[in-house]
Amino acid sequence: MPLTVVVGAQWGDEGKGRIVDALAADAAAVARFQGGPNAGHTVYLGKEKFIFHLIPLGIFNPGALCCIGLGVALDPLILCQEIKDLERRGYSVISRILIDPRCHLITPDHIDRDRQMEAQRSEGKIGTTLRGIGPTFSDRASRTGIRLGAYIEKLERGDDVPFKGAFADACLCLKQYIGDVSLTLYRMLKQGKNVLAEGGQGTMLDLGLGTYPYVTASNTIAASAPMNLGLGPKSVDKVIAVMKAYTTRVGEGPFPTEISGGLAEQIRQTGDEYGATTGRPRRCGWFDGVVAKFAARVNGVDRWALTKLDVLDQLDTIKIAVAYQIEGEITEELPNNTIMLSRAQPIYREFPGWKRSTRAARKLQDLPPQTRAYLDFIEDFTGLGFQIVSIGYERKCMIML
Ligand code: GDP
Ligand code: IMO
Ligand code: MG
Repeated sequence: MPLTVVVGAQWGDEGKGRIVDALAADAAAVARFQGGPNAGHTVYLGKEKFIFHLIPLGIFNPGALCCIGLGVALDPLILCQEIKDLERRGYSVISRILIDPRCHLITPDHIDRDRQMEAQRSEGKIGTTLRGIGPTFSDRASRTGIRLGAYIEKLERGDDVPFKGAFADACLCLKQYIGDVSLTLYRMLKQGKNVLAEGGQGTMLDLGLGTYPYVTASNTIAASAPMNLGLGPKSVDKVIAVMKAYTTRVGEGPFPTEISGGLAEQIRQTGDEYGATTGRPRRCGWFDGVVAKFAARVNGVDRWALTKLDVLDQLDTIKIAVAYQIEGEITEELPNNTIMLSRAQPIYREFPGWKRSTRAARKLQDLPPQTRAYLDFIEDFTGLGFQIVSIGYERKCMIML
C-alpha cells in the first residue's frame, strides 16, 4: 500500500511544502493530517510565491486530490480565503479538495483564548502563532469541540449556533468539499494508488516527544499520519523526513545549536528566514546531528530530504553538532527532559565551506567536493540516505536521488 508520509525533522519550516509539491507529481492524493493554519508552507511557481496554511501541496498537480484529514484543526475563514485567493490567481479548486467532516473548527473564541493565554504566560511564553491551535485541540480532547460536519448540519437545520455571520458563511461554503477522507484514501490505497501525507510543524514541536511545553498541540511525527487520516498503522509504506542543512526555530524554547550575531543574521538574510505564517524572524543555528538521529528514530525515517543547502554556499566554515555536553556528561542522545536540553552545550565538528554556488547542480556529482563531504557526513552519522537534496527555492533546484 503506497502511502508515503512526509514530516519535518526539526522545529518546522524545513521546506515540507516544497518537497511535497515535488513528490506530488505521481500522487493520486495529498493529505494534511494534523496541525492547522499555524503551518505556512511555501512554494514558488516561477517567480510567483504561494503560501498555504491549510490546502495541501498537491494543488499544483492536477492529478492529486487535496485532502484535509480528521486530525486537522480547521479555520473555515482562512481556508475559504485560501481557496478564493487561488481562484483569483487562476487556479481552479473545484473537485480538487476533500475535507473530512470530523475536522474540529477553530472558532473566533479559540483565537481569543490563544491570545489571552499567551498574554498571561509572562515568563513561560510559548510564542504560539495565535491561530487558536492550542484551545481548539484542548476542546477536542475535553469533548467540548465543534466538528465541521455537525456544525453545517446545525446551520442547515436553523438551530441556534454560537458563531454566526462570516464564520457560519465560511462553514457553509466548505460544504461542497466535505467527504470521508478516511474511506476515500483507504480505497485509493487498495487500488494501489500513491498517497502522500503532508506533515505540519516538525518532530521537535510534537506534543509528546518535542520540547514540551514549547511545542504545538498536535502530534507531528509520522505515526500521527495514519491515525489522523483514519487509516491503519500498516498502511504506511515510506517515511521521508525533511530537514534544512542548518536549523531554525520560531517561537520560544530550547535550541542547543542556536547562533547569534552577524553569522545568524547572514543565514537569516540568505535563507529568507522569516515566518510564513507570522512574519517573525526565525532563530537560526547549525545543523544538529543529535536532533536528526532522534528524528530518524521516532519517525522511523527511511530517507531524508535535505533543503536549503545553497544557503550555506558562501560560509567559510560550517558546523554540525555531533553530541551534547550536559552537566559534564557527553551524550549523543537527545535528553528526554526539556530542562536538560536547555543546558546542552553542542559539541561540533567543523567542515570547510565550499564558497561557490550550488544552485545549478542537478546531480550529486555537480556539487563541490566539500559539499559532498558535508552530505556524506550527514548520511554516515544518521545512517540514512538522501532522497532529495534541494539547492534553491525554485522547483527545478532539486537533486532527486
Ligand atoms: P514548510 O513550512 O516546511 O513548508 O517550510 P516554509 O515554507 O515555512 O519555509 C521554507 C522556506 O524555504 C520557503 O520560503 C521555501 O521557498 C524556501 N526553500 C525551500 N527549499 C529551499 C532551498 O533548497 N533553498 C532555498 N534557498 N530556499 C528554499
Ligand atoms: P510549518 O508547518 C514553525 C510553533 C510556534 C510556537 C509553537 C506553538 O510551517 O512548519 P501553535 O500556534 O502551534 O500553538 O504554536 O509551535 N509553530 C511552528 N513553527 N513552523 C510551523 O509550521 C509551526 N507551527 C507552529 O512558533 O513556537
Ligand atoms: Mg512553514
